[in-house]
Amino acid sequence: MGQLDSQTAHADLRGVDHNAAPFCAPDVAVRAAAWKELRERCPVGRSDQYDGYWILSDHASVAEACRNGEIFSNRYEPDADDGINYIGENGYPRMDWPELAIGEAYGEHHSYLRRVFNPLFSPTAVRRFEPAMRQVASWVLDQRVEDGAMDLMNDFVTPVTAISTLLFLGLPADLWQDTADVYHSIFGMAPDTAEFTHTVEITMPRLMDAFLSAAKAARHDRAEELLGAIARLEYDGELMNDEQLTKVLTNMVGAGVDTTNNTTARGLHQLAADPALRAAVMADRRLIDATCEETLRMYPSAQVMTCTITQDVEFAGQQLRRGEPAVLSLSGANRDPKVFADPDVFHVERTSNRHLAFGRGVHRCLGAHVARQMFRVMVAEILDRVPDYVVDDAKVVEYGGNPYLMGVWSMPVTFTAAPQLGVKRPW
Ligand code: HEM
Repeated sequence: MGQLDSQTAHADLRGVDHNAAPFCAPDVAVRAAAWKELRERCPVGRSDQYDGYWILSDHASVAEACRNGEIFSNRYEPDADDGINYIGENGYPRMDWPELAIGEAYGEHHSYLRRVFNPLFSPTAVRRFEPAMRQVASWVLDQRVEDGAMDLMNDFVTPVTAISTLLFLGLPADLWQDTADVYHSIFGMAPDTAEFTHTVEITMPRLMDAFLSAAKAARHDRAEELLGAIARLEYDGELMNDEQLTKVLTNMVGAGVDTTNNTTARGLHQLAADPALRAAVMADRRLIDATCEETLRMYPSAQVMTCTITQDVEFAGQQLRRGEPAVLSLSGANRDPKVFADPDVFHVERTSNRHLAFGRGVHRCLGAHVARQMFRVMVAEILDRVPDYVVDDAKVVEYGGNPYLMGVWSMPVTFTAAPQLGVKRPW
């Protein structure tokens, strides 16, 4: 396969399990070091765990696999008619999670979904929503700005992300707390806890029912442009049934909330930890965009994606076989020194930042412009109103044990208390 053919290396990754420590360590630096070691040892290699699977960890191979969805398929369909067991993009072995109605759609149906959605998520469409996002950020900060202390993650970043995402999609913003709880718990909590069980069995179904009712009500409502478009989606020439519609809504909200809040929290943490960077961004707000890209590169919240190889193919000097599973490390790719000089250093002035935090190819993140705009709005709000915030590093709690999504559970900060702006609740 093109330029990758020459990368012949031994492919032996026996004993490597991307679901185990150190690949799921809470500490970002530990994870990055683990992927670095693997990438240097063998960027495209085969593990013997879980009946065998490929692990891709350098930029060239991960980018090519994302681009070539015909061969590296996101599809989820166990024991499909063509004899392949499609594992989907959501983990190997797969977590207990229904099919992703967009992320794991394929072929003509996926093209149809993107034809409907792409214009509604374009930079122009997203920009129209910026004033509303600002109002959300200002209103949320108003609730804590007089206290001089808050949990940056749970009192600011997550509420702003959840409310903004719901408003953008046309869903009821009153559901923001359940929305935040569901995705924060599912991605951040160990499945054997009572809270996790409560989330999956009680909060999640309640939330999905509310999403579905709102979507069905918007079917004939031209005012709710995006939600109406979702509600009028078809499958095989018929309006989507309730189950299909719920899956689309779950995929849309789930993909957006716990990725954007974590990215923004990391960016704000980086600004707090690096006074020179904070001063530079304070002096020139245009640097917020570069801060966002570098945060996405160094701390991609989606760390790893999975896929299924659809045909025998020689790839990076290795013989891949039809039906084999593969794991793509966005984390490994984003710190590949062949593409990024000083990959472990946060360089806001990078001139080219071809990170893969949003994936690539036909499945490239639909909400990338929404996420970037939320990041921009939230960082500006904090720098404008509580610019001297300090993170209490000793009390930061990271998600533990999730190899697929890296996140922050809690990030306490202190700052000089400031007056409320008296912003009206945005919904
Ligand atoms: C910093 C925040 C975000 C990150 C890091 C992120 C990351 C990703 C990644 C890695 C993928 C898979 C790409 C691939 O398969 O090649 C993806 C897909 C997707 N994302 Fe995002 N995402 C973010 C925010 C959002 C937001 C805000 C939304 C919507 C409101 C969203 C909606 C989606 C959807 C619907 C897909 C599936 C696209 C498809 O398969 O065609 N994402 N995202």
